[in-house]
Parts: sequence; C-alpha cells; structure tokens
Amino acid sequence: MGIAALLSSWTHYSIEDLSTDAREVIVGVLVAIISSLILYCIGCGCATAVYKCGSQIISIVRGLKKNPHPNPRLIPKPSARTDSIAIAPQSTDDTDLLVDIWFRASLQAHGFLGAARLESQREAVRDVYFPQAETWVATDGSKPVGFISLLGAHIGALFVDPPMQGRGIGRRLIAQAGAVRGALSVEVYAENRAATAFYRRQGFVETGRRPVDDNGLPHPLIRMERA
Ligand SMILES: CC(C)(COP(=O)(O)OP(=O)(O)OC[C@H]1O[C@@H](n2cnc3c(N)ncnc32)[C@H](O)[C@@H]1OP(=O)(O)O)[C@@H](O)C(=O)NCCC(=O)NCCS
Repeated sequence: MGIAALLSSWTHYSIEDLSTDAREVIVGVLVAIISSLILYCIGCGCATAVYKCGSQIISIVRGLKKNPHPNPRLIPKPSARTDSIAIAPQSTDDTDLLVDIWFRASLQAHGFLGAARLESQREAVRDVYFPQAETWVATDGSKPVGFISLLGAHIGALFVDPPMQGRGIGRRLIAQAGAVRGALSVEVYAENRAATAFYRRQGFVETGRRPVDDNGLPHPLIRMERA
C-alpha cells in the first residue's frame, strides 16, 4: 500500500488493521520527519549562536578601537554617577578629611616612598601646604572625594579618593583649575605612571625632568605643562 493511500485512509483504519510492512513504512517516515525537524532546529540554534558570538566579538573590537586605554581599571565607569559631584573652594572644616584623602591616595600612587615617610608628612601637609595653597574640593553630597591645590598656576597636589577614581573627578578638578588659572604646570614622580598618563590625557606635555625630589630622594620628577 502506498504512503498517500495510507495517509488518506488514516481515519478509517486503526494501527492494528495495517500490515507489518505498512507499519514499518509509517514508522520510517515519521522517524525521517522527526529527525529532519531536530536537525533543522539544531542548525538554527547553531546559526543563532554563531551570529550572537560574532556580533559580540565585533562590538568588543569596536569598543577597544574607540577606547584604547592602557589601564582598564581607570576607564571612567559609564554607570558611575558624576552628576552628584560638585566642586567648590575648600572650607577650613574640610582639612582633616582632605589630609585623609591625600594619605590614602598617596599610599596607592607614591607607595615607593614608604608608608612611614608619608605618615610623617601628614602634619606638614595639614599645617603648612594647605594654608599656602588655593584648594578646590570635589564633594559627593557633602562628602569630600578629591581636591586640587594650586600654588599660582602650579598644581601642588591633585588627589582623588581611591574608591572614587576613574569617574571623571580628576578631569573636572583640572578643568576647574584651568578655568581659574589658564595655563597650568605640575611635577609628577616618574614612577607614578598612572598620573603621567592621566596628565597627558588632559593635554599636558613633558617640559623637563630632575633626578631627585624636594627631599633629595632619588625619585625623578617630570615637569609637565599645558598652555
Ligand atoms: C591621577 C588622578 C588624579 C586621576 O583622577 P581620576 O578621577 O581617577 O581620573 P578621571 O576619571 O578624571 O580620568 C580623566 C581622564 O584621564 C584618563 N586616565 C585616568 N587615569 C589614566 C591612566 N592611568 N592612563 C591613561 N589615562 C588615564 C581617563 O581615562 C580619563 O580620560 P577621558 O578624559 O578621555 O575620559 C587620580 O587617579 C589620583 O588621585 N591618583 C592618585 C594620586 C596621584 O597620583 N595624584 C597625582 C599626583 S601629582
């Protein structure tokens, strides 16, 4: 019996009425149809997975081209809120909090000087450097999160609290300094590569070097300027 005839008379017969040959044919056809469907679905699934992977790789490569950053940790986080950051002149009440930020950020950036030496500079930073400088403070709500201290047009200090770095606060503090002073200069430890990269990114160029720091220690300083 042909398959067409079998199918057209399907309603009139129960499976027991069919010969063994006919049952084998029907089972064969059904197996073929189901296998084809399974293979089709697997094929579609693979194609979708390949397409999704491909798109992901392309978007990662495009992202890298747009933002070829040497230190991904410091890429400003798109999700980070910076709209709540305000910049204002320092109030004397802030000083101890700013010294704490200076200490935490210095341990991170100038660790090569040693924690004991940095600790011993705390007092001078609070009682000598801050009073001499014009300082602008970045606050998140009422909490200070970074500051820039200016000695004329020279940046004497720029420190952002470590957990708040990479969110555009340093850039905003430089912009504030540029707005009040115009051309700017700074000296950065050569070993502080993150900071030299940051200043370059802000348009500063190297204009000189000296082999020892203000305390006569053999840690070269790079002078950088922005017109
Ligand atoms: C250096 C420092 C002030 C930068 O401030 P920040 O808030 O972390 O930096 P920002 O998020 O504002 O970054 C601003 C720009 O510099 C870039 N940048 C920051 N760190 C960078 C690095 N290590 N390499 C390259 N670019 C960097 C950012 O990608 C960003 O680029 P964009 O303007 O194209 O978006 C801060 O990390 C810090 O306090 N470091 C420790 C103390 C220190 O070294 N101070 C300087 C001593 S003089």
